[in-house]
Amino acid sequence: MKVLAIESSCDETAAAVVVDGQEVLSSVVASQVALHSKYGGVVPELASRRHVEVILPVITEALSRAGNDLQSIEAIAVTQGPGLVGSLLVGIGVAKSIAYVLKIPWVGVNHLQSHVSAIFLTPSLWRFPFTALVVSGGHTSLFRVESPTRMSLLGRTLDDAAGEAFDKVAKLMGLGYPGGEIIDRLGREGDRNAISFPRTMLERDSLDFSFSGVKTAVLNYVKSLGGKLSPGQIREIAASFQEAIVDTLITKVLRAAHRDSTQDVVVVGGVACNSRLREKFSQEGESAGIMVHFPPPALCTDNAAMVAVAGFHLLKEGLSSDLSLNAYSRFGKERN
Ligand code: KG4
Ligand code: ZN
Repeated sequence: MKVLAIESSCDETAAAVVVDGQEVLSSVVASQVALHSKYGGVVPELASRRHVEVILPVITEALSRAGNDLQSIEAIAVTQGPGLVGSLLVGIGVAKSIAYVLKIPWVGVNHLQSHVSAIFLTPSLWRFPFTALVVSGGHTSLFRVESPTRMSLLGRTLDDAAGEAFDKVAKLMGLGYPGGEIIDRLGREGDRNAISFPRTMLERDSLDFSFSGVKTAVLNYVKSLGGKLSPGQIREIAASFQEAIVDTLITKVLRAAHRDSTQDVVVVGGVACNSRLREKFSQEGESAGIMVHFPPPALCTDNAAMVAVAGFHLLKEGLSSDLSLNAYSRFGKERN
């Protein structure tokens, strides 16, 4: 089944053509980073407007790179939520229109399920059931995954997402946006044990996350230095902050894997690009007898290939959407 997928949940407009949830014929991502960088975060109204401008060119490019025209597409998958509703509605509107005109099935897909589905495009030897961490700018959520269409939530952040904390800490040090990649790079050159930032674990046994404490701790530390930082201090803060986030994520995820008796952990989402997270997670997983799997970075950040995979599995199970489908902003609020 040849699926055209569309993703517009946040600040990337993406389209992909994927066959049978496995063979990626094309995957096009138009990033809006330059548009939002001067604001230090995504401005929803600007994001929706940019999606409107670029969505048809992005789809046209995806079809052309796949060597296909619209008539050869057999089904459509589109991100339904969670995300920015105005942005989601742009993708949903286009998906509905194409499906209506071509009279082909189409399906709305959960964005977190799509992130997890990125692992199905890799040759990695994961086994069901596995524990999945979706860690990005908008989400930090832990799942038990039984099959491509069955996953249950084990825990989630109670405040900031981990990527959001990276972005805010980079912003408060005047480093630019998005902050994750910048902190990752600076952190490689700094002493990660220089400053002891908190690893918030919440109640004993909790699988939820909280990152507002570490963000505030960095803010207070920077203020205690008078606000003016030397390049050496920036590298130390970046490395120490990153280590606190990495330790928190690894502890919780391995705790979940032990409790759930899973032998495999899958880490996806933009923060899964982080080099220190990849290195330390793999080491600690090995010591704990758990295999840790990461898709390549291009499949970790927002893209439409992962949406096509998630959509393909839903369609294969006979699940499709009708024209009344609407967007939802939050996980667990699918009816909003
Ligand atoms: O998955 P994604 O592209 O979009 C969302 O769904 O949020 O993730 C973007 C987030 C941003 O917060 C960005 O700072 C973070 O992923 N990120 C990283 C790295 N690359 C991107 N965080 C830490 N280290 C990185 N190398
Ligand atoms: Zn995402």
